[in-house]
Amino acid sequence: MNIIVCKDAAEAAKKAAVIFAAQITEKPASVLGLATGSTPLGLYEELKGMYSAGLLDFSRVKSFNLDEYVGLGENDEQSYRYFMDKNLFEKININPENTYVPNGLAKDIGNECKAYEEKIAAAGGIDLQLLGVGHNGHIAFNEPSDYFLEKTSLFKLNEETIEANSRFFASKDQVPQRSISMGIGSIMAAKKIVIMITGRGKREILSKFINSPVTPQIPVTVLKFHSNVTVIADMEAAEGINF
Ligand code: GLP
Repeated sequence: MNIIVCKDAAEAAKKAAVIFAAQITEKPASVLGLATGSTPLGLYEELKGMYSAGLLDFSRVKSFNLDEYVGLGENDEQSYRYFMDKNLFEKININPENTYVPNGLAKDIGNECKAYEEKIAAAGGIDLQLLGVGHNGHIAFNEPSDYFLEKTSLFKLNEETIEANSRFFASKDQVPQRSISMGIGSIMAAKKIVIMITGRGKREILSKFINSPVTPQIPVTVLKFHSNVTVIADMEAAEGINF
């Protein structure tokens, strides 16, 4: 893995933006895998800035988001679709029809999962996948488990994740307990992966990621089996870790 340690989260966002900009410049019809959470917000700010400055064109880009809460629709402010529309898609020239997020309101979730995989395949697969990580090592909504789930599936959030994500909701009991999420196999099929890990709160999981063998109990460790991963961390997360 290629590991970049930046001075702070702002510099990490800039580094990640350079990688995304290079991808889009080299291949204007790139298929991007995108993530939600606090971590990628700085990167999205950078990309919006590059677009406004005329440096990036998203008109041929397609995007697939990692996950969505079951039960939340596009107009729900807590949905990941809403998050992406407000924090990125509405501020750049990506065609809304080319932005895919699993449908949290799908009547037939099994079908939705299958259709999502088919759409990724039809787009030619993901060229560059962005990831964050949960404190327990989850990527997308792949929680610690006895096995890695391959495909886009229905996942149950665990207690720790519900607690962590409750900061975006009025109360903890409003956090949906289930999600539709790309599986580990769907993520690992991306040609390139960038994972951003920033802030003091992520130091422990970054250390486990770097030092543990691959195990589904710490899902992020699976990235060690991928041939093109860039880890972008900041000093707060990386302090004291021997890379
Ligand atoms: C959520 C998302 C993940 C994300 C994680 C960390 O649970 N499903 O994709 O990586 O939270 O979020 P944050 O960047 O806010 O720490």
